Amino acid sequence: MDKKPFYITTPIYYPSANLHIGHSYCTVATDVMARYKRLQGYDVMFLTGTDEHGQKIQDKAAEAGVTPQEFVDNIVAGIKDLWKLMNISYDRFIRTTDEYHVKSVQKIFEKMKAKGDIYKSVYKGKYCKPCESFWTETQLVDGKCPDCGRPVVDAEEEAYFFRLSKYADRIIKLYEENPDWLQPASRAKEMMNNFIMPGLEDTCVSRTSFDWGIPVTSDPKHVVYVWLDALTNYITALGYENDAYNDFEKYWPADVHFVGKEIVRFHSILWPAMLMSLDLPLPKKVYGHGWLLLDGGKMSKSKGNVVDPVFLCERYGVDTLRYFLLREFPFGSDGVFSNEALINRINADLANDLGNLVSRTVSMVEKYFDGTLPAEQTADPIDDELIGMASALRGIYEEQMESYAFQNGLIEVFKVISRANKYIDETAPWILAKDEANKPRLARVMYNLLETIRICATLLTPFIPDSAEKIRVQIGAVPEMFIWDTAAEFGKLPADVTVCKGPALFPRIDMKKEMEFLDKHQEKQKKEAEKAAKKAEKKAKEEELANVVIAIDDFAKVSLKTAKILACEPVKKSDKLLCLQLELGEEKRQVVSGIAEYYKPEDLIGKTVILVANLKPAKLRGVESQGMILAADAPDGVKVVFVDGVPSGCTIR
Ligand code: ME8
Repeated sequence: MDKKPFYITTPIYYPSANLHIGHSYCTVATDVMARYKRLQGYDVMFLTGTDEHGQKIQDKAAEAGVTPQEFVDNIVAGIKDLWKLMNISYDRFIRTTDEYHVKSVQKIFEKMKAKGDIYKSVYKGKYCKPCESFWTETQLVDGKCPDCGRPVVDAEEEAYFFRLSKYADRIIKLYEENPDWLQPASRAKEMMNNFIMPGLEDTCVSRTSFDWGIPVTSDPKHVVYVWLDALTNYITALGYENDAYNDFEKYWPADVHFVGKEIVRFHSILWPAMLMSLDLPLPKKVYGHGWLLLDGGKMSKSKGNVVDPVFLCERYGVDTLRYFLLREFPFGSDGVFSNEALINRINADLANDLGNLVSRTVSMVEKYFDGTLPAEQTADPIDDELIGMASALRGIYEEQMESYAFQNGLIEVFKVISRANKYIDETAPWILAKDEANKPRLARVMYNLLETIRICATLLTPFIPDSAEKIRVQIGAVPEMFIWDTAAEFGKLPADVTVCKGPALFPRIDMKKEMEFLDKHQEKQKKEAEKAAKKAEKKAKEEELANVVIAIDDFAKVSLKTAKILACEPVKKSDKLLCLQLELGEEKRQVVSGIAEYYKPEDLIGKTVILVANLKPAKLRGVESQGMILAADAPDGVKVVFVDGVPSGCTIR
C-alpha cells in the first residue's frame, strides 16, 4: 500500500552568519515532527531553506564588499552545516535564488496580475527597513514598526499592489469555519482582532528602490516584494510552475507550516489570500510557535551569552540540546533560555532517569546472566502496573504529538521511565540475585525493564535519534522491534535476549564547575566580540578616510621628519607600549608607541624611522610622548616604516 504523504515546512531563514539557538528551535521541532511521522509510516516531505532576496541582504553584501550572491552563498553553506550538525533530516532545501524558484515566482506574479489581483499604483506609506515590511499609518504602534518597535520611514514610489481586500471575507470565513486552522488559538484571536477585523487593505508587492530581488517579467524595473517571493517557496519547492520537481500534486496542501510568532501574520493572512488568488487549496494548518528569550530580552549573539548552537552541540551533545529545546518550553509559548536550565535538564532527565535506567538494567543483565537472559522466567502481579503503563504509552504519546504538544509527549515517556526506575527499587534485583532459586523471577524483572526501555526509546527516536539507536543496540533489539507498530506491544524482545553494554549515554555535568567554565568562556567571547567590533570600526574609518580628498596645503601642515632610535625600553605595566628615545639631527625627542607586541627594544635601536614631529604631545600610561612614528597595518601585524641610511632630522614631503 502506498504510504500517506505528510508535508511539513519550516520558515526559510534569512541568511545570517549569527544564527543562535532560537533559530534552531523551529527547525528542531519540525525535524522531530518529520521523524515522528516517518516513524508512523508516512511518506514525509520536510522542506526548509533560505530567504535570500531583499534590501537588507543587498546592504549587508555591500558592507562586506562582495556581491549579494557571493554573500548569500557563503552563509547558506554555514546554515546547511549547522543543520547537518544538528541531525536535521530535511528532504529538500530551497534557496530563493534557485533558478527554478525565480522563474516560478515570475510566473506566479504574472498569473495574479493577469487575473487583476495585482495592479499598479503609487505606494505611499511607512516602511520598516529591518523587517522589510510596509505599514499603514494606523498599523504603527507609537509611530514605530509594530513588529520590531524600530522607526519607520516615509516611502512613496510606483508599485504593484496585491488585492488583499478582495479576499477579506474569505479569510474571515476561513477563521470562523476552521477554529483550529491557525494554532495556538491565541494567535488566531490576535490575527482576527488586530489585523483582519480592522479591515484588510491592499498590500504593496513590488519595489523599485533596490534591485536584489526577482524582477517582474512584464515590468523589470520592479522587483517582487520579498514576502511574496518567500511565501511561494512552499509550492515552488514541490514543482509548482516549474519542472525542477514534480510532487506538487502529491504533497500540496501542506499538512502544517511551523512558523515563529512574529511571522504568523504573513502566513495566516497574506499567504492564504495569495493561494486563493491562485485557486489553490490552503495549507491544512499553520502553527505559530513562541520565542526563546534570554533573561531580560531578545536573543542575540552579541550579548556575550552562550547561545551559539554549534558551541552548545559540541559541548553538550546534539541529542541533549534537541531534547532540552522541546522538553523545557511549551511549543506555543515563549520560554527563557539559560545554560543552567539546560544543564539541570541534562542531569535530571537524561543522565539520572533515562541514562541510569539503561545502564543499570544492561549492567545487571550482564552481571547476573552474562548478558543473555534465560528463557525460563516467572511473572508476578507486581509487574502489571509497569507493563500497563508501557503498553498504553504509544497512544497517550500520539495524542500529544498530534497536537504538537512535544513537551507533554516527552513528559508522558518520562513518566514511564521514572516508573521503571521505581520498579527496580520495588523488585530489588540485587536481593533476588542472592538466591539461585530466584533466577527465573530475576530474569523476568530484567525482561520487563528491557521491554519498557525498548518502548520508551522507540518513542524518543524522533527527539534523540542517535541516542535512541545506541539504546537499541545496548538492549539487543533488532530494528524491526524499534518501529511504530512494535512500540504498542509489550513482549517483542525474545525472552533469551542478549544485551550489549556501551559507554554512558548522558554523562552527568558538574553544575558548579560548568557554570564557572561558561563564565570564563563568555568573558572570552565578549572580549573577542569587542576586539572584532573595534577592528570593524577602524576599518570603516579607514574606508571613510580613503574617500576624503585633502588639498596639498592640508598635507603640508603635517611635519614629517626622519628620526634615529637611540634607546628603547618597555613602558612599565603595559604589554603594548614601548618608549623610544629619538634623535632628529640636533634635537632629541621621547615618543611612546604601541608596537611592543611586534618589536623587541633591541630590534629597534639604531634604526631610522619617520616621525610626525608636530603632533600635540600626549601622556600614555603617564609617559610623555612627543610625536608618533609611522607604521603600516600589514596582514601579519604592524610594520614600522624604516628609512635606514637616511640621516636623522630630514624633512619628508
Ligand atoms: O522570518 N526563538 O526569517 P528569520 C524562536 N525569512 N524562534 C526564533 C527566534 C527565537 N529567539 N529567533 C528567530 C524570516 N526565530 C523569514 C521567513 S518564511 C516564508 C520567511 C525564528 O531568519 C523566527 O520566528 O528571521 C522564524 O520563524 C525563523 O526563526 C526564521 O526567522
